[in-house]
Amino acid sequence: MEKMPYTPEMDVVAALMPQTAPESVVTTDWRTGLPVLTGSRVTLREMRVSDAPSLFAMLSTEEVARFISPPPTTVEGFERFIAWTHRERAAGRYVCFAVVPHGMDSAIGIFQIRQLDPAFETAEWGFAIGSAFWGTGVFQDGASMVVDFTFDAIGAHRLEARAAVANGRGNGALRKIGAQQEGVLRKSFLRNGEYLDQTLWTILDEDWHRGRPVRPLPTTWVH
Ligand SMILES: CC(C)(COP(=O)(O)OP(=O)(O)OC[C@H]1O[C@@H](n2cnc3c(N)ncnc32)[C@H](O)[C@@H]1OP(=O)(O)O)[C@@H](O)C(=O)NCCC(=O)NCCS
Repeated sequence: MEKMPYTPEMDVVAALMPQTAPESVVTTDWRTGLPVLTGSRVTLREMRVSDAPSLFAMLSTEEVARFISPPPTTVEGFERFIAWTHRERAAGRYVCFAVVPHGMDSAIGIFQIRQLDPAFETAEWGFAIGSAFWGTGVFQDGASMVVDFTFDAIGAHRLEARAAVANGRGNGALRKIGAQQEGVLRKSFLRNGEYLDQTLWTILDEDWHRGRPVRPLPTTWVH
């Protein structure tokens, strides 16, 4: 067999290949494992059971949990949640990325995407980031990669988000990323015994691709 000539790209590919998990395979199917997505500030990757303590510390605070479905209340609860995310991803219904800032190992937040129809043509996303990282650009960096992933890898054409009207940061973050406000869903979210109105925000693949350069999917997907 003819030997491939050396190119500098080979070093990049070699560096991306897992050194300690020989059972890992490279795949382009997100259902068998999420790719590692690298932005300017954060890496998005599959959730790990070892993320449970940091996610518990980051996402269980009152300010983070105020307008979202109640997160698990223990580290063990987060471990069960992480195992569930893997099962749902394998079933092709749902994706959860862990948010890891450059220079750190553990997750400080999550981006979730779930199907709204059996073919995953419409999707809904949600996100939560530890408050120490609010206003740092972590959200925008991760969100941009998640929207790309939703349209280019999952193949959805419409991405919805619901944010409680009173959630200033949540609505501000969605507006900033380019979502369009379609309306208000009256008393659609029960939180602490009270029904809250939610804003419905959407992004369409055609608008997203028209408004910004398409980020090429990574050629090597590692999980
Ligand atoms: C939602 C979340 C991920 C956004 O991350 P973030 O780092 O806070 O977002 P950013 O700072 O990049 O963007 C928020 C924007 O809203 C603006 N904003 C803040 N408070 C606001 C308010 N009360 N009203 C309107 N806009 C507000 C900010 O100024 C910012 O815009 P700017 O960068 O143009 O100034 C984070 O706040 C979070 O985890 N919140 C708790 C969980 C949650 O509510 N999830 C959303 C469910 S829809």
